[in-house]
Amino acid sequence: MSAETKSNIPVHVSLIMDGNGRWAKERGQERVYGHLEGVESVRACVEAAVEAGVRYLSLYAFSEENWNRPEAEVTALMGLMVKAMANEMESLHRNGVRFVVVGNRERLAPEINESIDSCMAMTADNKVLTLVIFLSYSGKWDILQAAKKMAVEILECPEKADDILDMDVSGFDRYLATSGIPDPDLIVRTSGECRLSNYLLWQGAYSELLFVDTLWPDFRKPEFHAAVEYYSKRDRRYGKVK
Ligand code: FPP
Repeated sequence: MSAETKSNIPVHVSLIMDGNGRWAKERGQERVYGHLEGVESVRACVEAAVEAGVRYLSLYAFSEENWNRPEAEVTALMGLMVKAMANEMESLHRNGVRFVVVGNRERLAPEINESIDSCMAMTADNKVLTLVIFLSYSGKWDILQAAKKMAVEILECPEKADDILDMDVSGFDRYLATSGIPDPDLIVRTSGECRLSNYLLWQGAYSELLFVDTLWPDFRKPEFHAAVEYYSKRDRRYGKVK
């Protein structure tokens, strides 16, 4: 990779993992088979992100809307997350990966929340890569919970109202569930769908978007590096003239 592309490495790459069901169907298998293979793609992308020098890798693992899938599939997906956490955490920790989960955790089972808490605590000081798993997350939920937090603050402490009225965009960032995580520079969605599906609606305001036809279980290191390369050639102007 040239020195020029190296200077254009995205700080935060976010992946909308889509196409597991279709990948399994193409092989005459149940949908869960695609999710299982999808975990291999997660591992490959974490390794590729470290290789590329990306500092934040985030994954849309389970949306608020995904709760409406058949109960058996929801159970299988949650089981897969817990198993992946148990299997992968030692290796992630050894490699300096900080593990963070963002989403509506009130909807998660207590044992899942316990696993998440212990993985987050164990890896809290790691510095190589922050791996953010968006679990039970949606963009509208995030904006709404931020607005509710502000409303509660004003109810509990009416003198805060002036601060909130004076607040700028970065002030609002602090109320979001993603507080402290930089906005994604690049959002990639697999499987040929060209939509955000209620993902990082506020945080993705200036993200570069890349839609690829590859189904998630086939999205491995070469595809990740190609996405980083694509980003490195973009000209980001943030509404200004260069
Ligand atoms: C979308 O494919 C994929 C999901 C909703 C789940 C993705 C989850 C994993 C790969 C497991 C994640 C594991 C970790 C450790 C984060 P789809 O089922 O919507 O596929 P389709 O559009 O072809 O039906």
